[in-house]
Amino acid sequence: MEGRKLIIMLVTALVVIGIITLLSRSRKNVKENTIAEKSNAHEVFLKNCATCHGNEGGGTTQAKGLRGRSLDRDYVKKIIQTGNTVMPRFHFIHEPVLSELADYVHNLK
Ligand code: HEC
Repeated sequence: MEGRKLIIMLVTALVVIGIITLLSRSRKNVKENTIAEKSNAHEVFLKNCATCHGNEGGGTTQAKGLRGRSLDRDYVKKIIQTGNTVMPRFHFIHEPVLSELADYVHNLK
């Protein structure tokens, strides 16, 4: 009978450890996804905008900085889509990336 109790305790312990592992793993996934989304907009920015606006949006001799200005998201979206005299229009940037990028620019600090 003692042996059976021990096995039941061991099985319970394993199940508990399994549940804890699963829980912590799913939490980690959520975190990684959030980072991936952020770095997606960051990457789009680096590829398409940084040459003129600087790697961190700090500006270059080509264009002024976008950082620390909390630029309105809709305004940023519109400029990305229409461009201006110097800035090309980015017709290939569609939703949801367009909104993510506008968000990214808005939040540049
Ligand atoms: C070829 C250079 C160039 C590239 C590439 C470029 N821009 Fe621009 N951008 C400009 C210039 C020039 C202006 C006009 C403002 C200025 O004189 O700096 C401007 C203006 C803006 C403005 C308005 C800023 C303000 O002060 O009102 C936003 C927002 C903006 N760009 C976002 C972007 C984003 C996002 C990208 C990438 C998808 C991008 N730009 C790529 C040159 C560029």
